[in-house]
Amino acid sequence: PSAAAGSPARGGVHHSSRASIAPRHLRRDRWWLPPAATAAGLLAFVVYSTWRAFADERYYAAPYVSPFYSPCLAERCVPMKDGADWEVFGSWWALSPALLILIFPLGFRLTCYYYRKAYYRGFWASPPACAVAEPHAKYTGETRFPLILQNIHRYFFYFAVIVAGILTYDAVLAFRDEHGAWGHMGLGTLVMLANIGLIWAYTLSCHSCRHIVGGRLRTFSKHPVRYRMWGVVSRLNARHMVLAWASLASVALADLYVYLVAGGVFDDPRFF
Ligand code: FES
Repeated sequence: PSAAAGSPARGGVHHSSRASIAPRHLRRDRWWLPPAATAAGLLAFVVYSTWRAFADERYYAAPYVSPFYSPCLAERCVPMKDGADWEVFGSWWALSPALLILIFPLGFRLTCYYYRKAYYRGFWASPPACAVAEPHAKYTGETRFPLILQNIHRYFFYFAVIVAGILTYDAVLAFRDEHGAWGHMGLGTLVMLANIGLIWAYTLSCHSCRHIVGGRLRTFSKHPVRYRMWGVVSRLNARHMVLAWASLASVALADLYVYLVAGGVFDDPRFF
Protein backbone atom coordinates (compact mmCIF):
# COMPACT_ATOMS: atom_id res chain seq x y z
CA PRO A 1 0.00 0.00 0.00
CA SER A 2 2.86 2.38 0.69
CA ALA A 3 3.76 2.43 -2.99
CA ALA A 4 0.32 3.82 -3.74
CA ALA A 5 0.33 6.31 -0.90
CA GLY A 6 0.60 9.80 -2.20
CA SER A 7 -1.49 9.06 -5.25
CA PRO A 8 -4.35 11.55 -5.34
CA ALA A 9 -6.45 8.94 -7.14
CA ARG A 10 -6.62 6.84 -3.99
CA GLY A 11 -8.56 7.70 -0.89
CA GLY A 12 -8.92 6.47 2.66
CA VAL A 13 -5.70 5.49 4.42
CA HIS A 14 -3.87 5.62 1.08
CA HIS A 15 -4.60 9.27 0.48
CA SER A 16 -1.66 11.58 0.11
CA SER A 17 -2.69 13.45 3.25
CA ARG A 18 -2.14 10.34 5.39
CA ALA A 19 1.14 9.00 6.77
CA SER A 20 2.74 6.43 4.50
CA ILE A 21 3.10 3.21 6.49
CA ALA A 22 4.13 0.04 4.67
CA PRO A 23 2.61 -2.69 6.88
CA ARG A 24 -1.16 -3.00 6.99
CA HIS A 25 -1.00 -2.71 10.75
CA LEU A 26 1.42 -2.79 13.66
CA ARG A 27 -0.83 -4.61 16.09
CA ARG A 28 0.39 -7.78 17.74
CA ASP A 29 -2.80 -8.82 19.51
CA ARG A 30 -5.57 -10.92 18.00
CA TRP A 31 -7.31 -7.88 16.57
CA TRP A 32 -9.32 -10.04 14.14
CA LEU A 33 -11.11 -11.87 16.95
CA PRO A 34 -13.79 -9.23 17.81
CA PRO A 35 -14.84 -8.61 14.17
CA ALA A 36 -14.85 -12.37 13.47
CA ALA A 37 -16.96 -13.08 16.57
CA THR A 38 -19.28 -10.19 15.68
CA ALA A 39 -19.77 -11.50 12.14
CA ALA A 40 -20.46 -15.03 13.44
CA GLY A 41 -23.00 -13.76 16.02
CA LEU A 42 -24.83 -11.54 13.54
CA LEU A 43 -24.86 -14.27 10.91
CA ALA A 44 -26.35 -16.74 13.38
CA PHE A 45 -29.13 -14.27 14.20
CA VAL A 46 -29.80 -13.50 10.53
CA VAL A 47 -30.13 -17.21 9.71
CA TYR A 48 -32.39 -17.92 12.69
CA SER A 49 -34.61 -14.85 12.26
CA THR A 50 -34.97 -15.38 8.50
CA TRP A 51 -36.07 -18.96 9.05
CA ARG A 52 -38.56 -17.92 11.72
CA ALA A 53 -39.89 -14.91 9.83
CA PHE A 54 -40.77 -17.08 6.86
CA ALA A 55 -41.90 -20.10 8.90
CA ASP A 56 -45.40 -18.66 9.40
CA GLU A 57 -46.25 -21.16 12.12
CA ARG A 58 -45.86 -21.87 15.85
CA TYR A 59 -45.74 -18.23 16.90
CA TYR A 60 -48.59 -18.29 19.41
CA ALA A 61 -48.91 -20.49 22.50
CA ALA A 62 -51.61 -18.92 24.70
CA PRO A 63 -50.99 -16.55 26.35
CA TYR A 64 -47.60 -15.98 24.72
CA VAL A 65 -47.00 -14.47 21.31
CA SER A 66 -43.60 -14.45 19.61
CA PRO A 67 -42.01 -10.99 19.39
CA PHE A 68 -41.26 -11.74 15.72
CA TYR A 69 -45.00 -11.82 14.98
CA SER A 70 -46.32 -9.06 17.18
CA PRO A 71 -48.39 -7.15 16.37
CA CYS A 72 -49.83 -9.75 13.99
CA LEU A 73 -51.39 -7.57 11.29
CA ALA A 74 -52.80 -10.06 8.78
CA GLU A 75 -56.17 -11.76 8.60
CA ARG A 76 -54.36 -15.06 8.27
CA CYS A 77 -52.81 -14.73 11.77
CA VAL A 78 -53.76 -17.52 14.16
CA PRO A 79 -56.57 -16.37 16.50
CA MET A 80 -55.15 -14.87 19.68
CA LYS A 81 -56.84 -14.20 22.98
CA ASP A 82 -57.13 -10.40 23.45
CA GLY A 83 -53.81 -10.46 21.81
CA ALA A 84 -52.00 -8.97 18.92
CA ASP A 85 -53.95 -10.30 15.92
CA TRP A 86 -55.09 -6.98 14.53
CA GLU A 87 -56.07 -8.03 11.01
CA VAL A 88 -55.21 -4.76 9.31
CA PHE A 89 -54.24 -6.65 6.14
CA GLY A 90 -56.97 -8.74 4.57
CA SER A 91 -56.90 -12.20 3.09
CA TRP A 92 -54.96 -10.90 0.07
CA TRP A 93 -51.82 -10.92 2.22
CA ALA A 94 -50.55 -14.44 1.56
CA LEU A 95 -47.07 -14.22 3.07
CA SER A 96 -45.93 -14.67 6.64
CA PRO A 97 -47.39 -11.93 8.91
CA ALA A 98 -43.93 -11.48 10.46
CA LEU A 99 -42.78 -9.79 7.25
CA LEU A 100 -45.25 -6.95 7.85
CA ILE A 101 -43.79 -5.94 11.17
CA LEU A 102 -40.16 -7.03 11.20
CA ILE A 103 -39.18 -4.19 8.88
CA PHE A 104 -39.37 -1.78 11.85
CA PRO A 105 -37.12 -3.52 14.40
CA LEU A 106 -34.88 -4.60 11.52
CA GLY A 107 -34.56 -1.03 10.22
CA PHE A 108 -33.92 0.23 13.75
CA ARG A 109 -31.11 -2.26 14.31
CA LEU A 110 -29.62 -2.03 10.82
CA THR A 111 -29.20 1.74 11.15
CA CYS A 112 -28.15 1.65 14.83
CA TYR A 113 -24.80 3.35 15.47
CA TYR A 114 -23.45 0.28 17.24
CA TYR A 115 -24.62 -2.28 14.66
CA ARG A 116 -23.20 -0.10 11.90
CA LYS A 117 -19.81 -0.33 13.51
CA ALA A 118 -20.32 -4.07 14.05
CA TYR A 119 -21.19 -5.00 10.48
CA TYR A 120 -18.89 -2.49 8.83
CA ARG A 121 -16.07 -4.22 10.67
CA GLY A 122 -17.37 -7.78 10.70
CA PHE A 123 -18.60 -8.07 7.12
CA TRP A 124 -17.00 -5.26 5.12
CA ALA A 125 -13.67 -4.90 6.95
CA SER A 126 -14.18 -1.16 6.71
CA PRO A 127 -12.08 -0.83 8.76
CA PRO A 128 -11.42 -4.34 10.15
CA ALA A 129 -10.30 -2.97 13.53
CA CYS A 130 -8.74 0.08 15.15
CA ALA A 131 -5.34 0.89 13.61
CA VAL A 132 -5.73 -1.75 10.89
CA ALA A 133 -5.87 -0.35 7.38
CA GLU A 134 -8.92 -1.35 5.43
CA PRO A 135 -8.51 -3.23 2.17
CA HIS A 136 -10.64 -0.84 0.13
CA ALA A 137 -8.93 1.72 -2.05
CA LYS A 138 -11.60 4.35 -1.47
CA TYR A 139 -13.46 5.47 1.59
CA THR A 140 -16.41 7.82 1.46
CA GLY A 141 -17.85 7.08 4.86
CA GLU A 142 -21.58 7.66 5.06
CA THR A 143 -21.58 10.74 2.88
CA ARG A 144 -23.04 9.16 -0.25
CA PHE A 145 -25.93 6.98 -1.33
CA PRO A 146 -26.75 4.38 -0.09
CA LEU A 147 -25.03 4.77 3.28
CA ILE A 148 -26.28 8.32 3.70
CA LEU A 149 -29.68 6.69 4.29
CA GLN A 150 -28.36 5.58 7.68
CA ASN A 151 -29.52 9.01 8.83
CA ILE A 152 -33.10 7.76 8.99
CA HIS A 153 -32.15 5.99 12.21
CA ARG A 154 -33.73 8.76 14.31
CA TYR A 155 -37.10 8.08 12.66
CA PHE A 156 -36.83 4.34 13.16
CA PHE A 157 -36.38 5.16 16.84
CA TYR A 158 -39.98 6.39 17.05
CA PHE A 159 -41.27 3.19 15.43
CA ALA A 160 -39.09 1.18 17.81
CA VAL A 161 -40.79 2.88 20.76
CA ILE A 162 -44.22 1.92 19.37
CA VAL A 163 -43.11 -1.70 18.85
CA ALA A 164 -41.66 -1.81 22.37
CA GLY A 165 -45.00 -0.51 23.67
CA ILE A 166 -46.87 -3.31 21.87
CA LEU A 167 -44.47 -5.94 23.21
CA THR A 168 -45.03 -4.50 26.68
CA TYR A 169 -48.76 -5.08 26.18
CA ASP A 170 -47.96 -8.69 25.18
CA ALA A 171 -45.86 -9.11 28.33
CA VAL A 172 -48.77 -7.87 30.46
CA LEU A 173 -51.11 -10.36 28.75
CA ALA A 174 -48.65 -13.10 29.68
CA PHE A 175 -50.05 -12.79 33.21
CA ARG A 176 -53.29 -14.34 32.01
CA ASP A 177 -53.82 -18.04 31.55
CA GLU A 178 -54.92 -19.67 28.31
CA HIS A 179 -58.59 -19.03 29.26
CA GLY A 180 -58.02 -15.32 29.83
CA ALA A 181 -58.06 -15.34 33.64
CA TRP A 182 -55.56 -13.06 35.37
CA GLY A 183 -53.01 -14.30 37.88
CA HIS A 184 -51.11 -16.73 35.71
CA MET A 185 -47.35 -16.92 35.85
CA GLY A 186 -45.24 -19.42 34.00
CA LEU A 187 -41.70 -19.63 32.78
CA GLY A 188 -42.92 -18.01 29.58
CA THR A 189 -44.11 -14.97 31.57
CA LEU A 190 -40.56 -14.52 32.87
CA VAL A 191 -39.13 -14.98 29.38
CA MET A 192 -41.47 -12.26 28.08
CA LEU A 193 -40.63 -9.92 30.97
CA ALA A 194 -36.86 -10.38 30.55
CA ASN A 195 -37.20 -9.77 26.84
CA ILE A 196 -39.25 -6.60 27.12
CA GLY A 197 -36.95 -5.27 29.87
CA LEU A 198 -33.93 -5.70 27.61
CA ILE A 199 -35.75 -4.28 24.59
CA TRP A 200 -36.67 -1.14 26.51
CA ALA A 201 -33.14 -0.81 27.89
CA TYR A 202 -31.69 -1.14 24.38
CA THR A 203 -34.24 1.25 22.84
CA LEU A 204 -33.77 3.92 25.50
CA SER A 205 -29.99 3.62 25.32
CA CYS A 206 -30.13 4.68 21.65
CA HIS A 207 -27.92 7.62 20.71
CA SER A 208 -30.86 9.29 18.95
CA CYS A 209 -32.94 8.90 22.11
CA ARG A 210 -30.17 10.59 24.10
CA HIS A 211 -30.21 13.50 21.70
CA ILE A 212 -34.01 13.73 21.68
CA VAL A 213 -34.07 13.77 25.48
CA GLY A 214 -31.16 16.09 26.23
CA GLY A 215 -29.90 17.54 22.97
CA ARG A 216 -30.15 21.16 21.79
CA LEU A 217 -30.32 22.49 25.34
CA ARG A 218 -28.11 25.46 26.10
CA THR A 219 -28.67 25.38 29.84
CA PHE A 220 -29.36 22.17 31.68
CA SER A 221 -30.27 24.00 34.90
CA LYS A 222 -33.33 25.47 33.19
CA HIS A 223 -34.55 21.99 32.22
CA PRO A 224 -34.13 19.86 35.35
CA VAL A 225 -36.50 17.08 34.23
CA ARG A 226 -34.86 16.65 30.85
CA TYR A 227 -31.45 16.85 32.49
CA ARG A 228 -32.39 14.03 34.83
CA MET A 229 -33.78 11.91 32.00
CA TRP A 230 -30.66 12.64 29.96
CA GLY A 231 -28.54 11.37 32.87
CA VAL A 232 -30.45 8.08 32.95
CA VAL A 233 -30.31 7.65 29.17
CA SER A 234 -26.59 8.51 29.18
CA ARG A 235 -25.88 5.77 31.70
CA LEU A 236 -27.77 3.28 29.55
CA ASN A 237 -26.09 4.66 26.44
CA ALA A 238 -22.66 3.77 27.85
CA ARG A 239 -23.81 0.13 27.72
CA HIS A 240 -25.40 0.32 24.31
CA MET A 241 -23.29 -2.46 22.79
CA VAL A 242 -24.01 -4.90 25.61
CA LEU A 243 -27.71 -4.06 25.48
CA ALA A 244 -27.73 -4.49 21.69
CA TRP A 245 -26.45 -8.05 22.02
CA ALA A 246 -28.48 -8.93 25.11
CA SER A 247 -31.75 -7.78 23.53
CA LEU A 248 -30.89 -9.52 20.25
CA ALA A 249 -30.38 -12.77 22.13
CA SER A 250 -33.49 -12.30 24.28
CA VAL A 251 -35.78 -11.62 21.33
CA ALA A 252 -34.54 -14.80 19.61
CA LEU A 253 -34.90 -16.81 22.83
CA ALA A 254 -38.43 -15.50 23.45
CA ASP A 255 -39.37 -16.53 19.92
CA LEU A 256 -37.72 -19.93 20.35
CA TYR A 257 -39.59 -20.46 23.61
CA VAL A 258 -42.94 -19.79 21.95
CA TYR A 259 -41.94 -21.99 19.01
CA LEU A 260 -41.16 -24.93 21.31
CA VAL A 261 -44.25 -24.57 23.50
CA ALA A 262 -46.53 -24.05 20.49
CA GLY A 263 -45.08 -27.17 18.89
CA GLY A 264 -45.74 -29.24 22.02
CA VAL A 265 -42.03 -29.94 22.65
CA PHE A 266 -42.69 -29.18 26.34
CA ASP A 267 -45.40 -27.58 28.47
CA ASP A 268 -44.90 -24.13 29.90
CA PRO A 269 -43.88 -24.68 33.56
CA ARG A 270 -46.42 -22.90 35.81
CA PHE A 271 -45.52 -21.14 39.05
CA PHE A 272 -49.13 -20.12 39.72
FE1 FES B 1 -28.24 2.02 18.47
FE2 FES B 1 -30.03 4.04 18.17
S1 FES B 1 -27.89 4.11 18.17
S2 FES B 1 -30.40 1.96 18.59
